[in-house]
Amino acid sequence: MPTIYHHIAALQDTLKPLRSEQRIALVPTMGNLHDGHLELVKMAKQQADIVVVSIFVNPTQFGEGEDFDSYPRTLDEDVAKLATVGADYVFAPSIDEMYPVLPPPTSVLAGAITTQLCGQSRPGHFDGVGIVVSKLFNIVQPDVAIFGQKDYQQLAIIKQLVRDLSYPIEIVGAPIVRAADGLALSSRNQYLSAAERQMAPILHQELQRLAQQLMAGNDQHELKSLLAETQTRITDAGFTIDYLDVRTEQLDAVDNVKSLKENNQKLMILVAAWLGRARLLDNEIVTFN
Ligand code: PAJ
Repeated sequence: MPTIYHHIAALQDTLKPLRSEQRIALVPTMGNLHDGHLELVKMAKQQADIVVVSIFVNPTQFGEGEDFDSYPRTLDEDVAKLATVGADYVFAPSIDEMYPVLPPPTSVLAGAITTQLCGQSRPGHFDGVGIVVSKLFNIVQPDVAIFGQKDYQQLAIIKQLVRDLSYPIEIVGAPIVRAADGLALSSRNQYLSAAERQMAPILHQELQRLAQQLMAGNDQHELKSLLAETQTRITDAGFTIDYLDVRTEQLDAVDNVKSLKENNQKLMILVAAWLGRARLLDNEIVTFN
């Protein structure tokens, strides 16, 4: 079983003598772990000698009216799951331990990348992610940290943060883990009713369909119309779209599909859509070759 720490100082006392000889990996999570999280831990085990998993439902990344209070908290089950994949330490701090003053007067702001896509409908969300991840990096001081590509924008923001604040940490992105029917695993999938859960894989099917079409075509006008068509199909299937967009791998706007294709660059299709109470997030990489 992994050892659980609730206090920063105790975790640091344990890690301090180990870090000169051993490589430490961090997997930040909000708990309620599923196979997607466990894959990150398995990847961390391959990258390092010691794996620390943090479990903290971070209040600063939830907006007014969001699901902070109802977010599932399942520490005992999470720790049992982590034991099966060989996590060494679990860091599960209280809110007071993480935020002596809440909201914290200090901020970590990552600029323009944080106010688009998910940031547009969740203002301040990535500022909360920025501060909590910075704190976790400073507390654990890992050699490597693993994040899922399911939260593609979050991963891009973390990479920017590490570059701009000179964190000596390698950031590794892990592929999206899906249910057998294609739905990306998420702690929020349990907000879906049985009927909604049946429909939910349509979202990924539509992304795959659009990806196929984008691979075949190459003009800019077509990109806009294919995007609009997919938007309609997803809406007609019963989802309420928050955003659906096609960006470059760096999340820049795509203004010339043809030249991206000629330069063998990738495209990212990114979506956030509501189905009942659940806000589903997914993405698909389009590779030309
Ligand atoms: P959480 O939603 O718990 O996700 C923790 C990590 O698991 C993230 O890096 C996320 O991208 C990854 N993940 C979730 N579902 C996945 C899936 N189906 N396949 C692959 N990876 C998946 O993301 C957060 O927590 C928080 O914002 C956090 C970074 C911990 C900061 O509070």
